[in-house]
Amino acid sequence: MQNFTFHNPTRIIFGEGQIAALDSELPHDARVLITSGGSSIKRNGVLEQVQTALGERASFVFSGIEPNPTYETLMQAVELAREKNIDFLLAVGGGSVIDGTKFIAAALKFDGEPWDILAKQAEVNDAMPFGSVLTLPATGSEMNNGSVISYRAKGDKLPFRSDATYPRFSILDPTTTYSLPPRQIANGVVDAFVHIVEQYLTYPVDAKVQDRLAEGLLITLTEVGPQALAEPHNYGVRANLMWTATLALNGLIGAGVPQDWATHMLGHEITALHGLDHAQTLAVVLPAMLTVRREQKRAKLLQYAERVWNLMEGSEDERITAAITATREFFERMTVPTHLRDYEIGGDSIETLIAKLKEHGMTALGEHGDVTPEVSRQVYQLAV
Ligand code: NZQ
Ligand code: ZN
Repeated sequence: MQNFTFHNPTRIIFGEGQIAALDSELPHDARVLITSGGSSIKRNGVLEQVQTALGERASFVFSGIEPNPTYETLMQAVELAREKNIDFLLAVGGGSVIDGTKFIAAALKFDGEPWDILAKQAEVNDAMPFGSVLTLPATGSEMNNGSVISYRAKGDKLPFRSDATYPRFSILDPTTTYSLPPRQIANGVVDAFVHIVEQYLTYPVDAKVQDRLAEGLLITLTEVGPQALAEPHNYGVRANLMWTATLALNGLIGAGVPQDWATHMLGHEITALHGLDHAQTLAVVLPAMLTVRREQKRAKLLQYAERVWNLMEGSEDERITAAITATREFFERMTVPTHLRDYEIGGDSIETLIAKLKEHGMTALGEHGDVTPEVSRQVYQLAV
């Protein structure tokens, strides 16, 4: 096992009816900016529950944070927060709203041009305190310090992270997910699945607990993912899905093990160029990525085949191929197509995608740093 430091300061408040706990989580004199996406939290009553829980506190709403949140929109929220003398941010929504709120929190305390936090990876030493009410199990943003922000005008989508951008708390009420359209549930399952794979499917370092936790989470997703589509109001299914997605990317399974993340970086460029949902890009890239890098990942692919997919028959190569096929079929079963052509994208944009990867310094990706632009090109070609 590799050396590691693990610290996660986010308090999780889990279960039906827990939005009421906001009252005890926020200072009584807080001036709160509720940040949100489109209209989903109005339609499903979550905003009303939040406002009731906030009681007499001064609160304002900034809505309009879009999926794949943009710098352009978020800077408007920064302006509003300054104008209203806000001292606490409350993200109510999915990963985009929480990621966007992390950027707003950091930008409010940042000296200089906030886009440098993404473009130049400028250090973020301070951020306004914020909490979240999660409505979409997928990204893990509710219990991590990462954020991915797009700059529409530049066609960029870039990540940042900082110790200052962990949510103070996150409220996870599975009933808030009942109103999710099937496409977002499917996206969430695929995103969480790929988060686990990025931290698990690398090379063995004798990290038995991390491996078995990762395998348990993957198997849980194969079970509850299809159920979540079939039974939208099944509390148990939604509760298990929600907690799995959080544990998939809260630092626990990634501590002391090598990590990959090449699939995510290639996926971000597809979203920036073609506008695909984040999870759609992962469903397209991952099977191709595993195929191209099957030799480097051989030992873990065999373990994955056996422990997650129960594949014990045939030669090593047959088991690896079967595991990659099982992964693709799982995404398809979740109704997320796994080829670029399914989204009407051909091979003509590959050179643009490669140029963007180079521009963003994504030229030595993966757990060995050996995913060069040439390897990425092969992955994109295979993904068509
Ligand atoms: O905008 P509203 O009206 O709220 O609708 C949203 C949005 O259209 C809707 N939605 C959310 N909760 C709902 C609901 N609709 C009905 N009922 C509910 N309860 O769902 C749509 C998608 O929301 P979004 O927040 O974009 O989805 P997701 O949570 O999948 O977040 C994706 C973003 O997170 C980033 C992605 O790159 C992408 O920008 N990621 C963040 C990570 C992190 N911080 O650690 C890691 C991930 O790898 C990922 O990159
Ligand atoms: Zn993701």
